[in-house]
Amino acid sequence: MEFPTRHDGETTARPLWLLAELTYACPLQCPYCSNPTELAQIGREMDTADWIRVLGQARAMGAAQLGLSGGEPLVRRDLEEIVAEGRRLGFYSNLITSGVGMDADRAARLAEAGLDHIQISFQASNAELNNFLGGTDSFEQKKEMARAIKSQGYPMVLNIVLHRKNIDDIEEIIAMAEALDADYVELANTQYYGWAWHNREALLPTREQLAHAERVTTEYRERGGAMKLYFVVPDYYEERPKACMSGWGEIFLTIAPDGLALPCHAARQLPGLSFPDVREHDLDWIWCESPAFNHFRGYDWMAEPCRSCSEKTKDYGGCRCQAYMLTGDMYAADPVCAKSPSHHRVTDAVERANERPVAEASSQPIVFRNPRNSKRIHG
Ligand code: FES
Repeated sequence: MEFPTRHDGETTARPLWLLAELTYACPLQCPYCSNPTELAQIGREMDTADWIRVLGQARAMGAAQLGLSGGEPLVRRDLEEIVAEGRRLGFYSNLITSGVGMDADRAARLAEAGLDHIQISFQASNAELNNFLGGTDSFEQKKEMARAIKSQGYPMVLNIVLHRKNIDDIEEIIAMAEALDADYVELANTQYYGWAWHNREALLPTREQLAHAERVTTEYRERGGAMKLYFVVPDYYEERPKACMSGWGEIFLTIAPDGLALPCHAARQLPGLSFPDVREHDLDWIWCESPAFNHFRGYDWMAEPCRSCSEKTKDYGGCRCQAYMLTGDMYAADPVCAKSPSHHRVTDAVERANERPVAEASSQPIVFRNPRNSKRIHG
């Protein structure tokens, strides 16, 4: 099978980054979760043998990095087996977890199975907000698990998703990370996909909140703080879109719990694209030949203003899922772009977020990520 070329017309597109979403089950209910809101309707999870087959196929195609996520991947009792297979095949593996479902023994077993890297997420820097957002009494356990992970010799990698409700606590968040002896901290502002899309009103920060958080982060770096901080700005405050996933079907391959192969975690919602199932097709056909993976490769699919834009070779028109969510047209320019005729859909949301006092609750109730709300949204 011949590998397609990337947007540069020269380099081969290979699924270097394989994200295995092992399950949509999760003990938490974060309202910014990027999982699909229709998760209650999504079919049976793949079994161990399916995952092991997929890992082997992906590795044979050149996949090098294996992300293990969910939902909460620790829910899977076969996680150690999958990790061990990843190690046997030569993947660099990364567990993306809330830490709920971990204990010191399990951390040791995962290390023994050959897991290379663990990222643990916190919802906030204090128990009250952390437990409210996650919907479980998990704060102390997360701290304990962060220490257990570090004691296995892993670098401490923390992830804190920022939004209107916690971003003002940036000093406390950094102090918590320092107290936990973190090495790397991802301060990732919420992007508005999945459940976050339904909670934009409640979660989108103000310009002032964002500027404050960036300033505190920069000051920490300038003081020569030992931790490496990554600060990710929300797309809604940008003027140009991101080259989402580094290009559709170029390096990134997600496998959903039900076996659907996707070029990004949010693509399931795009209309008229039939995403292939790894239980029915081999990965090389899916990647190289399937209509869904070829749909947004290259430039031919683009409409104006992207088609004639000099920046299309940098951003590939932005994110297809964001374009669809904001305009109903998955071929449109990502409205994050100031050149998009629909840019006002982003700036209007930003203006609304800035007009309302931060302390004021939004007029829409928060929709927590859980099967009950999934059924409610999708009937
Ligand atoms: Fe699907 Fe950006 S998240 S293309």
